[in-house]
Amino acid sequence: MIDGKKVLFSGMQATGNLTLGNYLGALKNWLTLSDEYECFYSVVDLHSITVRQEPAQLRKRARDLLTLYIAAGLDPKKNCIYYQSHVAGHAQLSWILNCYTYMGELNRMTQFKDKASKHTDNINAGLFTYPVLMAADILLFQADVVPVGKDQLQHLELTRDVAQRFNSIYGDVFTVPEPYIGKTGAKIMSLQEPSKKMSKSDENPNASILLMDDPDTIIRKFKRAVTDSEACICYRDEQPGIKNLLDIYCTCTNKTVEEALREFEGKGYGDFKLAVGEAVVSVLKPIQDEFARLSKDKVYIDSIIKENAEKANYYANKTLRKVQKKVGFPEQIR
Ligand code: TRP
Repeated sequence: MIDGKKVLFSGMQATGNLTLGNYLGALKNWLTLSDEYECFYSVVDLHSITVRQEPAQLRKRARDLLTLYIAAGLDPKKNCIYYQSHVAGHAQLSWILNCYTYMGELNRMTQFKDKASKHTDNINAGLFTYPVLMAADILLFQADVVPVGKDQLQHLELTRDVAQRFNSIYGDVFTVPEPYIGKTGAKIMSLQEPSKKMSKSDENPNASILLMDDPDTIIRKFKRAVTDSEACICYRDEQPGIKNLLDIYCTCTNKTVEEALREFEGKGYGDFKLAVGEAVVSVLKPIQDEFARLSKDKVYIDSIIKENAEKANYYANKTLRKVQKKVGFPEQIR
């Protein structure tokens, strides 16, 4: 608890491009969470180097991501958006938790097996202990809730196990976190294979709308979106392409499905797709403009980075000192 509010923590990787799916499915819903939770969003650059990165590119992507979150509407005064590498406590707690995590547990992590098979030339120890660092991220802030995708649930489960193990030895040190099950946004599917989720790693560039796609590209991708031969703008599972487009349209315009269906009654797919594309442009264009504006304002972004790193360090150090004392490290002499 911080100031009577529960704590929410999430980490995001600065690799790959955010998609419309990430925005409508997650980010858009996070904008109001700071009313209810004390929110920490960390750009997890320590995690990123578990696979080889080009340094200049990592630095740029991390800053772009942080800027993009602010451009998308996360108020950096109400949400602590910061770089993981600016808070040494992540690495320090991670080391301690390494000593309370079993090889057997880490061996069971499906993401490790997955990544190890993809990067056979660089199966480093960091890749193996990645989930421990993630546990440290979460426990460092005594987070109550963690919004995560399905692919990260196993890591969250491990975090809970490690927290409980530690607590059972030393008393109540860590808050045991829960997955955040809030109002979830629309699940946005691929524009090319509407049975699959829209993904930033899709090989077909027409399958996903990137947050940074320019208006022409957006419209073009919607024109090419896969539909069907029913010639009916109906909201039903038998027409997954049309259903997905309706979901996108409704989420972007805040209209109900009924309203949208009435609006497009008797219209052809061509007109409909164009309207969906335009609705998306009207949501993304202001974010892109704000991103461009903020990117130029180095002084402002730097001041946010500094302030938020200080805030994050303050809470991190509180937990860290408690943990260091529990495990038997001597007190710092000041
Ligand atoms: N592993 C997460 C991912 O790849 C990112 C992450 C790192 C994270 N630390 C976290 C997510 C803590 C939630 C909480 O998506």
